[in-house]
Amino acid sequence: MPTYDISTHLAALYASADDPWNTRTSPYEQDKFAQTIASLPRPHYRRGLEVGCGAGALTAHLARRCDHLIAMDCTERAVAVAQSLSDLTHVVFTCGTAPADWPRHAPDVVILSEVLYFLTDAENAGLAARISDDCTTDCDIVLVNWLGDTSGPISGAQAAVRLTDKLSMICKKISSECFHSFRIDVLRKC
Ligand SMILES: C[S@@+](CC[C@H](N)C(=O)[O-])C[C@H]1O[C@@H](n2cnc3c(N)ncnc32)[C@H](O)[C@@H]1O
Repeated sequence: MPTYDISTHLAALYASADDPWNTRTSPYEQDKFAQTIASLPRPHYRRGLEVGCGAGALTAHLARRCDHLIAMDCTERAVAVAQSLSDLTHVVFTCGTAPADWPRHAPDVVILSEVLYFLTDAENAGLAARISDDCTTDCDIVLVNWLGDTSGPISGAQAAVRLTDKLSMICKKISSECFHSFRIDVLRKC
């Protein structure tokens, strides 16, 4: 799990609102999702994995680009909300914490949107190991990170750099773009 404090914090957020970041309604989030989808290097993927799917707003967009998609979140309420709002039969929502509960799935695309800065350095390293072990060669890995205050120990930019550095031996950088308040980095496993 994320550290006790983070898990408790996340559970409390979802206890007070089904979609604490207003991902389903905010124009800012819709713009960010559009940029995220536009950053995908390939038009179509066989098996996607979305880590930290939250209330499932980005999931709905990703689902159009994947034959099969696993959307995972560590907060039970988030998964319940995402599941209840989706009628997509090729998307499986699951409650689990990255990296410990990474599902063996051989994904050819992995989306890490606004989740990396919740991870400890050890969890970040574990995530790099799962990407190394389980992702297909040529898997695209998309990192989306808020550039403002995360209220946590590391910033979104630091979290992105931390994972990118750990993957540097097995991934090449496809793109890295800063928008007004978030950045999107795309890596490809070699
Ligand atoms: C800020 S929300 C982002 C939701 C969505 N990905 C987006 O970009 O709109 C972060 C989500 O990541 C989940 N999360 C945080 N740490 C996680 C971990 N280690 N494994 C899985 N989910 C995690 C939280 O429960 C929360 O729903």
